[in-house]
Amino acid sequence: MTHTTFVLGGRGLLAGELIRLIVEHPKLQLEAVYSRQAGDSIGTVHRFLSGGPAELEFEEPSELEQALLRRDSQPCLLFLALPHGVSAHWWQQTGQRLAAKLPKLSIVDLSADFRLQSAEAYQATYQATHPCSDELGTWSYGLPELHPVPLAARKIAAPGCFATALQLSLAPLRSRSDLLHSNAPWVAQAVTGSSGSGAVASSTTHHPTRDGNYRAYALQGHRHLAEWSAPRNGEANDLLTFTPHSGPFKRGIHLHAVLQLKNATAGTEACEQLQAWTQTHRFVDWSEQAPELREVVGSNRLLLHAQAHKQVLHVLAVLDNSLKGGAGQAIQAFNLSQSWDEGLGLPIHAWGY
Ligand SMILES: NC(=O)c1ccc[n+]([C@@H]2O[C@H](COP(=O)([O-])OP(=O)(O)OC[C@H]3O[C@@H](n4cnc5c(N)ncnc54)[C@H](OP(=O)(O)O)[C@@H]3O)[C@@H](O)[C@H]2O)c1
Repeated sequence: MTHTTFVLGGRGLLAGELIRLIVEHPKLQLEAVYSRQAGDSIGTVHRFLSGGPAELEFEEPSELEQALLRRDSQPCLLFLALPHGVSAHWWQQTGQRLAAKLPKLSIVDLSADFRLQSAEAYQATYQATHPCSDELGTWSYGLPELHPVPLAARKIAAPGCFATALQLSLAPLRSRSDLLHSNAPWVAQAVTGSSGSGAVASSTTHHPTRDGNYRAYALQGHRHLAEWSAPRNGEANDLLTFTPHSGPFKRGIHLHAVLQLKNATAGTEACEQLQAWTQTHRFVDWSEQAPELREVVGSNRLLLHAQAHKQVLHVLAVLDNSLKGGAGQAIQAFNLSQSWDEGLGLPIHAWGY
């Protein structure tokens, strides 16, 4: 059965990605897109869209509640493509009440608001009090390769883009203390494109500062590390340090992690372990050589590669932050919650150039 689909945060970058995917999805029907600046046609903002979805007009967020209540007998899906803090506020003010009234409503939140498990973890990571902390731990974490999405899950929290890259490339090695040095740090760096920062330019994402430039940030710890350390991921692994970098391109994340092996022969087994792991997952593929962004940008794939040199294991991963790290993964998790084919509506092939 088709799900009538709504998007909140309509002018945002991921909202545009979601609209593009929803209109190609055989079981989702785009109904309305909400923006604080209502009235314009969607195509005036998301200029890559054409036809029906481009002609639809952004609607007032205050109209969402009535629109959902009018469809109380139909399966509905709402994407929250809002900044962190704003999603939780909407949930507290409106969403919780609506979800209680509408048993056929499912919600997928793209923000960080429901990814963590406790009020303490949220406060420590986002330096803010969560407005409805009793909800933490009650949303399904939408990283299907590591956390199966429960059937008919009605609340899905999509992971962060760096958190996706870190977990999908390093989690399979987490329990391999037989292969990895038990006290040596795992050192990961990842460079992201400017689309990771959303649609509105800031002093660090504006084109003149970004183009032809390269810098590290959050050396004291990026917020997405909290997703790696969440209790659902088993034993805490404090060995991981992670430094994000901002790169002079629009889309994609390129991750490089360096792990100390127990001995020079452990490398082969560590590589085999990672390669075998990719074989059981539709959207995680093994690469025989160091992967490039252009092999994944435009697709919902993460490409993984590892090789050992002496006692060091290099792990490399690439993904498209807007798709496997964002809107695509959100749809992948929702597909699974409905027992649909995991890949419905999702691009497998990258743009290439
Ligand atoms: N970009 C990525 O690669 C990526 C990947 C994974 C997760 N995420 C997360 O997904 C969410 C959306 O990301 P994005 O890149 O699309 O961000 P974005 O481009 O900044 O879009 C967020 C949208 O939310 C609405 N909004 C902003 N401030 C608001 C406020 N105070 N009250 C109500 N609505 C507000 C705006 O839409 P209107 O002006 O139309 O109301 C805005 O366009 C964020 O939480 C982000 O962290 C992003």
